[in-house]
Amino acid sequence: MDAHDLGRSVKWVTSFRTVGAARVLRSVRAAWWRRRADAVGLAGPGPERARVPGAARGAEPAPGGGVVHFARSSLRVRVAAGGAVFCGWDGAAPEPSYALAGPVPEADERAVLEPDRDGGWRVVSERVLVTVSRHGAVEVRTPGGVVLRRDHPPRWWDRADAAGPAGRAAGGAGPRWAQRSEVPADARFFGLGGRSAGPRLRDGTYLLWNEDPGGSFGPGDDPLYITMPVQLVVADAGTHLVFHDNSWEGRVTLWEGEEGGGSGHDRPGRCEVRAAGGPLRTWVITGTPARVLGGWSALTGRAAVPPAWALGPQHARWGFGSADEVRRVVAGYRERGLPLSAVHLDIDHYRGHRVFTVDRERFPDLPGLAAELRERGVRLVSIVDPGVKAEPGWEVFDGGLAADAFVRDARGRVVRGEVWAGTSVFPDFTDPRAREWWGGLYAERLAQGFSGFWHDMNEPAAFAAFGEHTLPRSARHALDGAGGDHRAAHNVYALCMARAGYEALRALRPDERPFLFSRSGWAGMQRYGGTWSGDVVTGWPGLRASLALVLGLGLCGVPYSGPDVGGFTGSPSPELYLRWFQMGAFLPLFRTHSAISAGRREPWEFGAEVLAHAAAALRERVRLLPYFVTLAHLARLTGAPYARPVWWRSPEDRALRDCEDQFLLGDALLVAPVLEPGASRRAVRLPRGRWYDVATERAYEGPGQVLLDAPLSRIPVLARAGCVIPVASSSGGGGVELEVWAPAPGVGVGRSEGGVVVVEPAGVVERFVTGWREGAVVVGREGGGEVGYRVRVRGV
Ligand code: NOJ
Repeated sequence: MDAHDLGRSVKWVTSFRTVGAARVLRSVRAAWWRRRADAVGLAGPGPERARVPGAARGAEPAPGGGVVHFARSSLRVRVAAGGAVFCGWDGAAPEPSYALAGPVPEADERAVLEPDRDGGWRVVSERVLVTVSRHGAVEVRTPGGVVLRRDHPPRWWDRADAAGPAGRAAGGAGPRWAQRSEVPADARFFGLGGRSAGPRLRDGTYLLWNEDPGGSFGPGDDPLYITMPVQLVVADAGTHLVFHDNSWEGRVTLWEGEEGGGSGHDRPGRCEVRAAGGPLRTWVITGTPARVLGGWSALTGRAAVPPAWALGPQHARWGFGSADEVRRVVAGYRERGLPLSAVHLDIDHYRGHRVFTVDRERFPDLPGLAAELRERGVRLVSIVDPGVKAEPGWEVFDGGLAADAFVRDARGRVVRGEVWAGTSVFPDFTDPRAREWWGGLYAERLAQGFSGFWHDMNEPAAFAAFGEHTLPRSARHALDGAGGDHRAAHNVYALCMARAGYEALRALRPDERPFLFSRSGWAGMQRYGGTWSGDVVTGWPGLRASLALVLGLGLCGVPYSGPDVGGFTGSPSPELYLRWFQMGAFLPLFRTHSAISAGRREPWEFGAEVLAHAAAALRERVRLLPYFVTLAHLARLTGAPYARPVWWRSPEDRALRDCEDQFLLGDALLVAPVLEPGASRRAVRLPRGRWYDVATERAYEGPGQVLLDAPLSRIPVLARAGCVIPVASSSGGGGVELEVWAPAPGVGVGRSEGGVVVVEPAGVVERFVTGWREGAVVVGREGGGEVGYRVRVRGV
């Protein structure tokens, strides 16, 4: 056990204190089981031999590129029509892949490998230039020839038991490998899934192995629930995304570069990716941040659009004691005139923590409660854990056994682990039959009246007093026909669980958009739904970490997420709660939640002043709902996350690249949350152009930094000059009106920002332009026609 495992075990065991000695004992037993299973089921390390590609022997051109043969490996290069570059070593092909959404994008027919200088090759295409040196270094350049990324020849450590190329591509063991790369000296790294230390990823090593940190996490705790081998690299020369399509455990080490101050002695940024097995294959997508995310979502799937109600304010709690307590909380919101769109029921509404059951003593009539709340405009969301209590005679367990749905060990026995319900078994979501069986169980949830689903504990997490807190690495998985063990399946376990749930809900309720969000996941999870921060520690550092997660995940293609407002643990001070609430109101998932042992999170629990300001944040969220709906559809259509780093449209602005404590909400708004105690003003960095403080309507010119008021009543929010924001109609009744912020003086119609509106239920995209004409701000439809909405001009 290394220091990382030891640290996490101590945290786990201390968090067990709240749940009793019996569980601690069972966790000790579970840890022994897991260790024994791996001792039997995993081959020892064995001798290894290092290998590099060696010298090039020749190349076979093919559409989009071709294959370069080296003495001891081969490299397939393929540029897709949209400009995405695939590189696969040792015979690795783009498929099969858990990340890719559909057919591999068509090759750019005009691009093929051709001889380059010094015995190398190159592929010239419209959007990107790829060169391969005769020793296997690959450079991705802009069409103008500026280097965005240079991958050194990889290194493998071959084992006697290594699978052949086909097995490797499909998730078979294969040798472990490492690849080093260089990026421009000024580059900044982002992504790698949900990282609490982000959004800018500084020098350090980041593990690729989804983990429940146990209890709670704060900045720097790594890894967390969602790790992804996806990096977004932003430099003056351009932005690129690189994806190492390999689900195995790995680690990424980053070193930011340093510029030589004009001396020409720049130290490039560096990155090393290592994987314990699996294929070495990469995708690189280049362009502006918007183009890159567009290409990434085309490759890995369009983001599911949550139902509109899931963009409203939500309240969760681990430890709702009964249906009456739920009623009391909902009544509390109602009596105070506070909007609420959903209540989430955690594991305590289950019978003895068994998934897909209801404790009928505490929730005697759940469908009745759901209907009652629904009349008040409040939906019910259910937690769903993957662990199934191993209890013969109980229909869910028996059904899973009959469907042969559970993960087995190397000797063919069903793997057991310890979770909330006690000794449990785990569906193999990488098996289509298991997904089908599991999906059928959501019918019970729908019959209970639930409208949405919250997948938890799906790293998968299993309590263990020592060692890893998951399934044995030797556990067997179907891997959709490829077959393999938990080392290949672990990181995609939750992704496949999300697929099972999403596909079932689509089939069970074809007329509704599923609402599903999942604690763990992998590249491509946006196809099925979103995620949330997980158990973020209550405290100012936790608040900061929760913003880092949302922004980092958005850059990995997962646009819908948000934190446990107020933090998961303990009791926030009234000020911290309020600042968290004010930030959460501008993030896609806006939900208060906390641990069973934590204090209350209702807005009225923190005094009259906090209540008044939280109410204002809630009202603003509801007013902005049409904008959130628009952003949800735009995320599906374009891959752009709702919440974006401030450099999104100005990646060349280096000060913005380093600015981590504010974000853009869509194209129109800039949100500057207060992330420290005692602040009544804060510095706000503006991208270029004119911005209005929405509270004062005062205009500021970017680029630059301004000091803005941030009294307890609000956080600074700025609107971009010339933008159009769809908001709830001020006359009520569910209509939409357009809030238009005056363009910079003298800008003609159609020459300024404008905006987009997507209205439910039809989902039609409407585009608007703004500008000045004869001394007045005018708004029009792009291409002409009636505006069709009430317009409110601000900033004049
Ligand atoms: C862990 C989850 O992260 C948390 O949100 C939930 O309340 C607990 N599990 C209990 O289900």
